[in-house]
Amino acid sequence: MSKLFSPITIGSIPLKHRLVMPPLTRLRSNPDDSVSDMMVEHYAQCDSDGGLIINESANISIQARGYFGAPGPYLDNHINGYRRIADAVHAKGGLAVAQILHCGRTSHTDITGGRPPLEPSVIPFDTMALTQGGWKPVSPHRAMDLGDIRQTVEDFRDAAQRAFDAGVDDVEIHSANGYLLDSFLYDGSNKRTDAYGGAVDNRARFLLEVLEAVSALRGADRIGVRLSPSGEWNDMVDSDPMAMFSRVGELLYQFGLAYLHVIEPRIKGDDAKVGHEDTEPVAAAHLRKVFQGPIVAAGGFNGDSAEAILEKGDADLGDLASEARRDSRPCMNVYARKPSVVSSTTWSASM
Ligand SMILES: Cc1cc2nc3c(=O)[nH]c(=O)nc-3n(C[C@H](O)[C@H](O)[C@H](O)COP(=O)(O)O)c2cc1C
Repeated sequence: MSKLFSPITIGSIPLKHRLVMPPLTRLRSNPDDSVSDMMVEHYAQCDSDGGLIINESANISIQARGYFGAPGPYLDNHINGYRRIADAVHAKGGLAVAQILHCGRTSHTDITGGRPPLEPSVIPFDTMALTQGGWKPVSPHRAMDLGDIRQTVEDFRDAAQRAFDAGVDDVEIHSANGYLLDSFLYDGSNKRTDAYGGAVDNRARFLLEVLEAVSALRGADRIGVRLSPSGEWNDMVDSDPMAMFSRVGELLYQFGLAYLHVIEPRIKGDDAKVGHEDTEPVAAAHLRKVFQGPIVAAGGFNGDSAEAILEKGDADLGDLASEARRDSRPCMNVYARKPSVVSSTTWSASM
């Protein structure tokens, strides 16, 4: 019997199967960052048949923006659009998760209301941000002071509140891929000497404060966290990533989350940035030692390899981003309804 197609409960949410639609930024929001008709249509087409659909990452504030066209539940008038997405997902029997994020230093003042992008520390960084005028080199960033940290924790909480008000089932805190929360975890980007820098527990403090604030809304079991251990996206480096992520995983497990979403360092990503595509998954296995709650495995998986990591016990759910994109419709129906797409006989047999 296929593990992928067996039911599981995450937090208090029962799922009919373990295939997860990954968060995939589409950049189709209205100019005021509200949800567009096209976005609703996109999610309405995702026939998950009782699975988890994680919405593309959404900004928690204007200063959190890094990609023009990404949505944000950072204003109360964004709630209605999110409600339309949640309703569309629920109408097809799916469970809706809103992923919320702060892009940190990967931004430009053109899209942050003129405010400099924020980071734990000022470290020279060279990448592009998508503005209304196209891609531009990121603006110089500023190290966050304690007031910025407090404000950002509140922004995460308020964005999560709006998402819950819109009817989503869970929120996922984006602490991966070199964005703000992730950059606090790595000692290559976090050179702080206050309570938010130095030892791993200090570097994880900001993430935990966000979780504390968000869990006060509906409980920790309505929250997922996304991590990308040793991911190279956005130039993340750490002197001892294994030890760092072990400790972070331990701290997250104590929190009683609905799930931990782990991106393997090998990813397919988009065609321009292929990372260690043919290597074995290692991150979920590493975190499993300290995190016994539900783990969603992401990064370079197809039907067979997702089934294998579940069989091995290193993960409980599988996120097949590349497979979904390959069919140009990043939707659950791609693999839930069309097993031939993932060329797996075990999947076919299990349908
Ligand atoms: C076009 C595109 C958009 C993405 N958007 C998001 C996003 O909004 N949030 C997120 O956490 N990851 C995002 N990702 C990362 C994917 O969810 C996934 O983790 C990554 O592609 C690795 O999986 P894969 O090897 O199966 O592609 C995006 C990736 C791509 C290629």
